[in-house]
Amino acid sequence: MNETMVSEDNAPLQKLLRPIIRALRTAYIQGTNVCKLMPSERAIQLYYKYRRKSYDLQWSMDPGYRKGLRKLVELVVEKGDHVLDVGCGTGSATVVAAPQAREVVGIDLSPHMIELAEEKTKKKSICNTCLFATSVEDYHPDTQFDKVISSFMIPHVKPHLRPMIYSCMFNFLKPGGLVGLFGSRGEVCDVYETREEIIENLTRSGFTDIKLYDVYDIYRIAVAKRPEKA
Ligand SMILES: C[S@@+](CC[C@H](N)C(=O)[O-])C[C@H]1O[C@@H](n2cnc3c(N)ncnc32)[C@H](O)[C@@H]1O
Repeated sequence: MNETMVSEDNAPLQKLLRPIIRALRTAYIQGTNVCKLMPSERAIQLYYKYRRKSYDLQWSMDPGYRKGLRKLVELVVEKGDHVLDVGCGTGSATVVAAPQAREVVGIDLSPHMIELAEEKTKKKSICNTCLFATSVEDYHPDTQFDKVISSFMIPHVKPHLRPMIYSCMFNFLKPGGLVGLFGSRGEVCDVYETREEIIENLTRSGFTDIKLYDVYDIYRIAVAKRPEKA
Protein backbone atom coordinates (compact mmCIF):
# COMPACT_ATOMS: atom_id res chain seq x y z
CA MET A 1 0.00 0.00 0.00
CA ASN A 2 1.46 3.38 -0.90
CA GLU A 3 0.54 6.79 0.29
CA THR A 4 0.91 10.18 -1.34
CA MET A 5 0.38 13.49 0.33
CA VAL A 6 -1.40 15.98 -1.91
CA SER A 7 0.11 19.10 -0.49
CA GLU A 8 -1.29 22.52 0.12
CA ASP A 9 -0.64 25.54 -2.11
CA ASN A 10 2.50 27.40 -1.16
CA ALA A 11 1.68 30.84 -2.55
CA PRO A 12 2.51 33.50 0.11
CA LEU A 13 -1.10 34.53 0.71
CA GLN A 14 -2.23 30.91 0.96
CA LYS A 15 0.57 30.18 3.42
CA LEU A 16 -0.46 33.14 5.56
CA LEU A 17 -4.11 32.12 5.55
CA ARG A 18 -3.37 28.42 6.07
CA PRO A 19 -3.97 28.23 9.85
CA ILE A 20 -7.33 29.98 9.45
CA ILE A 21 -8.34 27.82 6.50
CA ARG A 22 -7.26 24.71 8.40
CA ALA A 23 -9.31 25.67 11.47
CA LEU A 24 -12.38 26.40 9.31
CA ARG A 25 -11.94 23.19 7.37
CA THR A 26 -11.63 21.11 10.53
CA ALA A 27 -14.67 22.84 12.06
CA TYR A 28 -16.65 22.11 8.92
CA ILE A 29 -15.63 18.46 8.92
CA GLN A 30 -16.62 18.23 12.58
CA GLY A 31 -19.99 19.55 11.43
CA THR A 32 -20.48 16.30 9.51
CA ASN A 33 -21.32 14.84 12.93
CA VAL A 34 -24.83 16.02 12.12
CA CYS A 35 -25.14 12.77 10.11
CA LYS A 36 -25.44 10.93 13.42
CA LEU A 37 -28.80 12.65 13.90
CA MET A 38 -30.24 11.15 10.70
CA PRO A 39 -31.65 7.76 11.59
CA SER A 40 -33.32 6.93 8.26
CA GLU A 41 -33.28 7.54 4.51
CA ARG A 42 -36.26 9.85 4.97
CA ALA A 43 -34.30 11.96 7.45
CA ILE A 44 -31.38 12.23 5.01
CA GLN A 45 -33.75 13.28 2.25
CA LEU A 46 -35.35 15.92 4.47
CA TYR A 47 -31.95 17.25 5.54
CA TYR A 48 -30.78 17.71 1.95
CA LYS A 49 -34.09 19.25 0.93
CA TYR A 50 -33.25 22.24 3.14
CA ARG A 51 -29.46 22.03 3.02
CA ARG A 52 -29.02 21.79 -0.73
CA LYS A 53 -28.88 25.50 -1.52
CA SER A 54 -25.97 26.25 0.81
CA TYR A 55 -24.22 22.94 0.16
CA ASP A 56 -22.11 23.83 -2.89
CA LEU A 57 -21.32 27.32 -1.63
CA GLN A 58 -19.80 25.96 1.56
CA TRP A 59 -17.72 23.27 -0.11
CA SER A 60 -16.59 25.51 -2.95
CA MET A 61 -14.76 27.68 -0.42
CA ASP A 62 -12.34 24.88 0.44
CA PRO A 63 -9.59 24.38 -2.15
CA GLY A 64 -8.75 21.06 -0.44
CA TYR A 65 -12.12 19.65 -1.41
CA ARG A 66 -11.83 20.79 -5.03
CA LYS A 67 -8.26 19.51 -5.26
CA GLY A 68 -9.33 16.21 -3.69
CA LEU A 69 -12.08 15.72 -6.26
CA ARG A 70 -9.65 16.35 -9.10
CA LYS A 71 -7.14 13.95 -7.54
CA LEU A 72 -9.84 11.29 -7.14
CA VAL A 73 -10.70 11.50 -10.82
CA GLU A 74 -7.02 11.63 -11.85
CA LEU A 75 -6.29 8.46 -9.83
CA VAL A 76 -9.29 6.45 -10.96
CA VAL A 77 -10.91 7.59 -14.21
CA GLU A 78 -9.38 6.82 -17.61
CA LYS A 79 -10.41 8.05 -21.03
CA GLY A 80 -13.60 6.37 -22.23
CA ASP A 81 -14.55 4.83 -18.88
CA HIS A 82 -18.14 4.11 -17.91
CA VAL A 83 -18.29 5.61 -14.42
CA LEU A 84 -20.78 5.44 -11.56
CA ASP A 85 -20.81 8.24 -8.96
CA VAL A 86 -22.46 6.86 -5.82
CA GLY A 87 -24.14 9.46 -3.57
CA CYS A 88 -23.38 12.07 -6.24
CA GLY A 89 -25.27 14.86 -4.44
CA THR A 90 -25.13 18.04 -6.53
CA GLY A 91 -22.84 16.28 -9.01
CA SER A 92 -19.52 17.82 -7.96
CA ALA A 93 -17.51 14.65 -8.72
CA THR A 94 -19.74 13.76 -11.67
CA VAL A 95 -18.85 16.97 -13.53
CA VAL A 96 -15.13 16.57 -12.83
CA ALA A 97 -15.19 12.98 -14.15
CA ALA A 98 -17.40 13.65 -17.19
CA PRO A 99 -14.83 15.21 -19.58
CA GLN A 100 -12.62 12.15 -19.20
CA ALA A 101 -15.35 9.49 -19.19
CA ARG A 102 -17.56 8.01 -21.88
CA GLU A 103 -20.51 8.38 -19.52
CA VAL A 104 -20.98 9.15 -15.84
CA VAL A 105 -24.07 7.85 -14.08
CA GLY A 106 -24.80 9.64 -10.82
CA ILE A 107 -27.13 8.21 -8.18
CA ASP A 108 -28.33 9.86 -5.00
CA LEU A 109 -30.97 9.23 -2.39
CA SER A 110 -32.08 12.86 -2.47
CA PRO A 111 -34.19 13.96 -5.45
CA HIS A 112 -33.46 17.56 -4.47
CA MET A 113 -29.70 17.05 -4.76
CA ILE A 114 -30.25 15.28 -8.11
CA GLU A 115 -32.19 18.33 -9.33
CA LEU A 116 -29.21 20.54 -8.55
CA ALA A 117 -26.86 18.05 -10.22
CA GLU A 118 -29.02 18.23 -13.33
CA GLU A 119 -28.89 22.04 -13.28
CA LYS A 120 -25.12 21.92 -12.83
CA THR A 121 -24.50 19.60 -15.79
CA LYS A 122 -26.85 21.66 -17.96
CA LYS A 123 -25.09 24.90 -17.00
CA LYS A 124 -21.74 23.35 -17.88
CA SER A 125 -23.14 21.90 -21.15
CA ILE A 126 -22.13 18.41 -20.09
CA CYS A 127 -24.09 15.86 -22.12
CA ASN A 128 -22.59 12.50 -21.09
CA THR A 129 -24.22 12.14 -17.66
CA CYS A 130 -27.31 10.31 -16.41
CA LEU A 131 -28.65 11.15 -12.97
CA PHE A 132 -31.06 9.07 -10.89
CA ALA A 133 -32.69 9.58 -7.51
CA THR A 134 -32.20 6.22 -5.83
CA SER A 135 -30.39 4.75 -2.86
CA VAL A 136 -27.31 2.60 -3.42
CA GLU A 137 -29.17 -0.35 -1.95
CA ASP A 138 -32.08 -0.04 -4.44
CA TYR A 139 -29.96 0.55 -7.53
CA HIS A 140 -29.80 -2.40 -9.93
CA PRO A 141 -28.03 -1.34 -13.13
CA ASP A 142 -28.22 -3.44 -16.30
CA THR A 143 -24.50 -3.12 -16.93
CA GLN A 144 -21.37 -3.10 -14.81
CA PHE A 145 -19.08 -0.08 -14.66
CA ASP A 146 -15.36 0.36 -15.34
CA LYS A 147 -15.05 2.65 -12.31
CA VAL A 148 -17.08 3.59 -9.25
CA ILE A 149 -16.40 6.86 -7.45
CA SER A 150 -17.98 8.20 -4.28
CA SER A 151 -17.35 11.39 -2.38
CA PHE A 152 -18.41 12.12 1.20
CA MET A 153 -21.30 9.67 1.26
CA ILE A 154 -19.91 7.29 3.87
CA PRO A 155 -20.75 9.45 6.95
CA HIS A 156 -24.41 8.75 6.15
CA VAL A 157 -23.90 5.00 6.38
CA LYS A 158 -23.94 3.42 9.83
CA PRO A 159 -20.54 1.84 10.56
CA HIS A 160 -21.89 -1.75 10.63
CA LEU A 161 -23.53 -1.24 7.20
CA ARG A 162 -20.42 0.06 5.44
CA PRO A 163 -19.14 -3.35 4.27
CA MET A 164 -22.59 -3.95 2.72
CA ILE A 165 -22.41 -0.61 0.85
CA TYR A 166 -18.90 -1.50 -0.36
CA SER A 167 -20.27 -4.88 -1.50
CA CYS A 168 -22.84 -3.01 -3.62
CA MET A 169 -19.99 -0.95 -5.13
CA PHE A 170 -18.04 -4.17 -5.73
CA ASN A 171 -21.01 -5.65 -7.62
CA PHE A 172 -21.48 -2.46 -9.66
CA LEU A 173 -17.94 -2.92 -11.02
CA LYS A 174 -16.68 -5.11 -13.84
CA PRO A 175 -14.00 -7.57 -12.72
CA GLY A 176 -10.74 -5.60 -12.70
CA GLY A 177 -12.59 -2.32 -12.11
CA LEU A 178 -11.56 0.31 -9.57
CA VAL A 179 -13.43 2.05 -6.78
CA GLY A 180 -12.29 5.50 -5.63
CA LEU A 181 -13.56 6.96 -2.37
CA PHE A 182 -12.99 10.53 -1.25
CA GLY A 183 -13.74 11.73 2.27
CA SER A 184 -12.24 12.85 5.51
CA ARG A 185 -10.51 10.68 8.11
CA GLY A 186 -11.83 8.90 11.16
CA GLU A 187 -8.73 10.18 12.92
CA VAL A 188 -10.17 13.73 12.49
CA CYS A 189 -13.92 13.11 12.89
CA ASP A 190 -15.43 9.79 13.92
CA VAL A 191 -18.23 9.69 11.33
CA TYR A 192 -15.50 8.79 8.84
CA GLU A 193 -13.37 5.64 8.76
CA THR A 194 -9.89 5.43 10.16
CA ARG A 195 -7.12 4.01 8.01
CA GLU A 196 -7.58 0.57 9.62
CA GLU A 197 -11.39 0.64 9.29
CA ILE A 198 -11.44 1.52 5.60
CA ILE A 199 -8.89 -1.18 4.80
CA GLU A 200 -10.87 -3.76 6.82
CA ASN A 201 -14.24 -2.78 5.31
CA LEU A 202 -12.96 -2.80 1.72
CA THR A 203 -11.15 -6.11 2.26
CA ARG A 204 -14.29 -7.72 3.77
CA SER A 205 -16.21 -6.67 0.65
CA GLY A 206 -13.71 -8.44 -1.62
CA PHE A 207 -11.56 -5.52 -2.77
CA THR A 208 -7.80 -5.90 -3.18
CA ASP A 209 -4.86 -3.63 -4.03
CA ILE A 210 -6.04 -0.98 -1.55
CA LYS A 211 -4.14 2.29 -1.72
CA LEU A 212 -4.68 5.28 0.54
CA TYR A 213 -3.72 8.83 -0.40
CA ASP A 214 -3.76 11.60 2.13
CA VAL A 215 -4.96 14.92 0.78
CA TYR A 216 -4.01 18.00 2.78
CA ASP A 217 -4.32 17.56 6.51
CA ILE A 218 -7.82 16.14 6.81
CA TYR A 219 -8.90 14.45 3.59
CA ARG A 220 -8.21 10.97 2.28
CA ILE A 221 -8.74 9.07 -0.96
CA ALA A 222 -8.95 5.28 -1.02
CA VAL A 223 -8.56 3.36 -4.26
CA ALA A 224 -9.21 -0.39 -4.47
CA LYS A 225 -9.67 -3.04 -7.13
CA ARG A 226 -12.32 -5.65 -7.80
CA PRO A 227 -10.09 -8.61 -8.66
CA GLU A 228 -10.29 -10.05 -12.18
CA LYS A 229 -11.40 -13.35 -10.69
CA ALA A 230 -13.59 -12.78 -7.63
C1 LIG B 1 -22.23 14.90 1.88
S1 LIG B 1 -23.17 14.59 0.47
C2 LIG B 1 -21.92 14.33 -0.77
C3 LIG B 1 -22.40 14.69 -2.14
C4 LIG B 1 -21.34 14.68 -3.23
N1 LIG B 1 -20.82 13.37 -3.46
C5 LIG B 1 -20.22 15.66 -2.92
O1 LIG B 1 -19.04 15.28 -2.87
O2 LIG B 1 -20.52 16.84 -2.77
C6 LIG B 1 -23.74 12.96 0.75
C7 LIG B 1 -24.77 12.51 -0.28
O3 LIG B 1 -24.98 11.10 -0.11
C8 LIG B 1 -26.35 10.84 -0.35
N2 LIG B 1 -26.67 9.55 0.28
C9 LIG B 1 -26.69 9.25 1.59
N3 LIG B 1 -27.02 7.96 1.78
C10 LIG B 1 -27.23 7.45 0.54
C11 LIG B 1 -27.62 6.17 0.06
N4 LIG B 1 -27.87 5.14 0.90
N5 LIG B 1 -27.73 5.98 -1.27
C12 LIG B 1 -27.49 7.02 -2.15
N6 LIG B 1 -27.14 8.25 -1.74
C13 LIG B 1 -27.00 8.47 -0.42
C14 LIG B 1 -27.06 12.05 0.25
O4 LIG B 1 -28.36 12.19 -0.24
C15 LIG B 1 -26.12 13.19 -0.12
O5 LIG B 1 -26.50 13.81 -1.31
